[in-house]
Amino acid sequence: MENYFAVIGDPIAHSLSPLLHSAGYQSLGITAEYSRFRVTPSKLKEAVYGLRALGFSGWNVTIPHKESIIPLLDELTPEAENAGAVNTVKQLNGKLIGHNTDGNGFVLAIENKFNFSDKKAVILGAGGAARGIAFALKEKGMRIHILNRTLSRAQELASLIRLAGGEASSGDLLPGVWLKDVDLVVQTTPVGLYGENYPISLQGIKPKTLVVDIIYKPWETAFLREARKLGCQTINGLPMFLFQGVLAWEFWLGGKAPVEQMWAALVNEVQTK
Ligand code: ATR
Repeated sequence: MENYFAVIGDPIAHSLSPLLHSAGYQSLGITAEYSRFRVTPSKLKEAVYGLRALGFSGWNVTIPHKESIIPLLDELTPEAENAGAVNTVKQLNGKLIGHNTDGNGFVLAIENKFNFSDKKAVILGAGGAARGIAFALKEKGMRIHILNRTLSRAQELASLIRLAGGEASSGDLLPGVWLKDVDLVVQTTPVGLYGENYPISLQGIKPKTLVVDIIYKPWETAFLREARKLGCQTINGLPMFLFQGVLAWEFWLGGKAPVEQMWAALVNEVQTK
């Protein structure tokens, strides 16, 4: 039987997931199709039932459905439970299993540049993306400090991490002493997508600190540029996007996804546009 996959969201026209997965199928000679469907919030339920009825093997879920899809699914993996969000659904014997590969995708994206044990991470932002990453870093044994424009959301996320047995604290989105003893900084807000300057400066950060921005378009945000100029190691969001897709692929199809070919397709697309 053919394998059908898709991504659903709104907006969806610029999603790179079809390119990412199709490059993988092509490289391994797998007969599969990956489509993108624009699904508005009022049509989510019908769309999910439709994908199930049509026998789609799996699909990715993006903005704005990562949380609202949960009641429509039969089971959640621990990663999806922790993140409180689903970015990957697998249909298995008619059952819909919700999974989340964003957090572990983040971990895979930095693990060749970073040794996690007994280190401290500062996460800027406390939304859905921050939550998945925070839980994945907690699983790696990191101490986590969450800074957010709205302090109460940072406090809520830190207490969720502590309830799950992790070490976490919170604060306002301000520069401070944390800059001196942080090992990893993760920027998870949308600030920079349209070329804006970041609300806080990293002036005073230790050189060589790893600084990651989950945005990959533009390739280097103003935030990441400042970090690089201050002597930090920097990574943009494209490796995380790659590995969330690699993990979704492996969740659906088993075996190893062809990471290098999938990466080449992404870089070619993002850097030439
Ligand atoms: P996502 O699921 O993509 O993380 P989200 O749940 O809407 O999206 O969260 C967006 C995050 O970016 C939040 O932490 C938000 O801060 P608030 O909780 O104060 O809203 C943060 N954010 C968005 N715009 C921001 C801005 N201009 N300056 C600082 N933080 C911003």
